Amino acid sequence: MNLSPEIIDEIKFRNNIETVVSSYVTLKRAGSNFNGSCPFHSEKTPSFTVFPSTQSFYCFGCGAGGDAITFVMRMENLDYISAVRLLAERSGVKLPEEQIRSDGKNEISRQRILNMNKDALDFFKKSLFDDKTGEIARSYLLEKRKLSMEIINHFQLGFAPNSFGALHDYLKKLGYSDEEMIVGFLCGKSSKTGNAFDYFRNRIIFPIIDVTGNVVAFGGRVMDDSTPKYLNTSDTPAFKKSKNLFALNFAKNNCEKMLILCEGYMDVISLHASGFENAVATLGTAITSEQARIFSRYTKKVVISYDSDEAGQRAADKAFKLLQEVGIDVRIIKMDNAKDPDEYIKKNGANKFASLLEASKPRFEFECDRAFAKYNINNIEEKVKASRELCYFIANCPSDVERELYCRKLSTLIDIPANSILSDVNTIIKKNSSKNKKTEVSELYRQSSGIGDRINPESSYNIKASKTEEAILGLMMLKSELLKICVEKLQFDDFVTAFSKKVFEKISNAYREYGKFDLGLIEGDFSLDEISRITKMLSERGRLNCNDEQVLNEYIRVLLSEKQKSTDSDTFESILDAIKKRKNN
Ligand code: UTP
Ligand code: MN
Repeated sequence: MNLSPEIIDEIKFRNNIETVVSSYVTLKRAGSNFNGSCPFHSEKTPSFTVFPSTQSFYCFGCGAGGDAITFVMRMENLDYISAVRLLAERSGVKLPEEQIRSDGKNEISRQRILNMNKDALDFFKKSLFDDKTGEIARSYLLEKRKLSMEIINHFQLGFAPNSFGALHDYLKKLGYSDEEMIVGFLCGKSSKTGNAFDYFRNRIIFPIIDVTGNVVAFGGRVMDDSTPKYLNTSDTPAFKKSKNLFALNFAKNNCEKMLILCEGYMDVISLHASGFENAVATLGTAITSEQARIFSRYTKKVVISYDSDEAGQRAADKAFKLLQEVGIDVRIIKMDNAKDPDEYIKKNGANKFASLLEASKPRFEFECDRAFAKYNINNIEEKVKASRELCYFIANCPSDVERELYCRKLSTLIDIPANSILSDVNTIIKKNSSKNKKTEVSELYRQSSGIGDRINPESSYNIKASKTEEAILGLMMLKSELLKICVEKLQFDDFVTAFSKKVFEKISNAYREYGKFDLGLIEGDFSLDEISRITKMLSERGRLNCNDEQVLNEYIRVLLSEKQKSTDSDTFESILDAIKKRKNN
C-alpha cells in the first residue's frame, strides 16, 4: 500500500467505474450491470461486464478484471501510482506528494522519465539548431530528405551530437541520476567502467509523443548507410512499444474517415507533409494485437501502406489479419514504381497517392491479385494451385455470406462453377474444425485440472479446497456482514493454498485497519493478473443468488474439513519420512 485509504476512497468515489470504462468502451445496460466488447482481447460477442454494485469489471472471455484503478492501469499501461494519479487529475482530487509513502524500493516513476524525456528532447532540438553541431544534420533533413522547416518543427525532430556524454552531462545538470538515464533508455551502461554513456549518437532524433502529449520514446536514424539504421527506445516504465503508434498524437484529430498505416517514420512524415495527416506507423516492429485495438478505438477503416518489397507484403498480411479481427474495414494499397510511400510521393506527388488510396482494395481482391501474379493461370496445374490457396483463404473467413460471395467472385475470375469452389472450401473447413476441436478439448482438460494455473499453482492438487477458498473470499468481498463473520471465524492458516492465504490476509488487514473492504485497498499488493483472479472470485459470487450466512457457513465447514485432509496427508508423509530415517539408521 502506498496511498492512504481516504485518498483512494475519494478517487474511487469521484471516478465511478461505469464512467471510467465508458470513456473507452461502449457500454449497454444489462439488468443492473453493463456489457460491452472487451478492450483487452478481440471478441465478437461482448463478455466484458461492469458491475456498478461492486464497482468492478470482469471479462468472462479473457478473465481480465479489477476496479477503476486497475482498469486504467491496463488501458493506459500505467503502474499503480500513475493510474491513481491520472484518475486524481481527471476528477480534480488533489494528491499531495507526501501522501505517497515509499514502499522501500527505489522505483523510478513514469512521471520522472517523462520529465527527463522532455528535457532530452529540448537538448536534441537545441543541438539540431545549433549553428555548428547541427549543420550536417540540418542539411541532411532539408536537402537530402527534402523536409521543410515547418515539418521539422511540427514533428519536433532533433539531433543527437556525436558524443558519448553531451546528453548525459546536460541531464546531470538538471538533476537526473545515471540510473534514471539508463532505465529511461537515454544512456547505456559501460560494461567495463559501469559509467553511463549517451545511447543516441550522431543520429537524427524522432520523438515519439503519445496522445496526451507526453514524450514517451525516441527513434534515432543514422545519416549515412551505417547500421543499425535506426535505434529505438526499448520498453521503459513510461513506454511500451507494442502499445504506441508513431504520430497518433496528430492523426487522432484526422481519423474519422480512415487511418493510413505505414512501416516507417519517414513515410509518416512525408505523408503528413503532403497533407495526409492521418498516417501512423508502428515503432520498428510488426503490428501487435494491442495496436490493432488502438486502431479500433480511433477509426473504422485502415489503409495499409507498407513497403512494396516481400518483407513489407508479409508484414501487411499479418496487419490485415489483426486489424480485421477487431472489426476494422481493412484495405491495402499497391505501389508499382516505388519502394515505400515516401519515395512514391516524391516521385508522383500527393494527388497520385490520393488516387492510390481511392483504389485500395479489400482483402479478397488483393489476395486474388497476388495469387494470379504468383501463378500462371493459363497452365492447368498452376491454376489448381492458385485456386487452392484462395480456397484456404476463403475457408478462414468466419461469415457464411462472405464465403459465398468470395466463391462467386472467384468463380468468375477462374471460370469454375461456384459450387465446386464452395465444396472445396467446405472440405478445408471440416479438416480445420476437427483440428481445432482437438486443441480445444485438451485446453479445457488442462484448465479444469488446474494444470497451467500460474496464479495459484497449488489449485491443481487441491481442487476442492481451492474452489471453496475462492467462494469464501468472493463472499467476503461481496458483503460486509459476511466479511465480518469470516474475519472473526477464520485465520490465515485455515486456507490451504498460499495464494488464497495471501488474499485472505490482505482482505482481513484492510478490514481491521479501515473497517471495510475495497479492491482499492489491496490492489497495490498484487499483480494485474492476480487482481483479475481476485475480481473473478467476486464477480462469480455476484452472479449467484445464494450469498447468505448459511451458505458461507457451509463453505467454511467444507474448507476446514479439506484443510484437515491436507494436514492429515502432511502428517502421514512426515510419519513415512520418520520411518524411512529410522530404517536408514
Ligand atoms: P525502413 O528501413 O523502411 O526505414 O524501416 P524508413 O523509415 O523508411 O527510413 P528511410 O526512408 O530509409 O530514411 C521502417 C521502419 O522500421 C524501423 C523504423 O521504425 C523504420 O522507420 N527500423 C528500421 C528499425 O527500428 N531499425 C532499423 O535498423 C531499421
Ligand atoms: Mn523509407
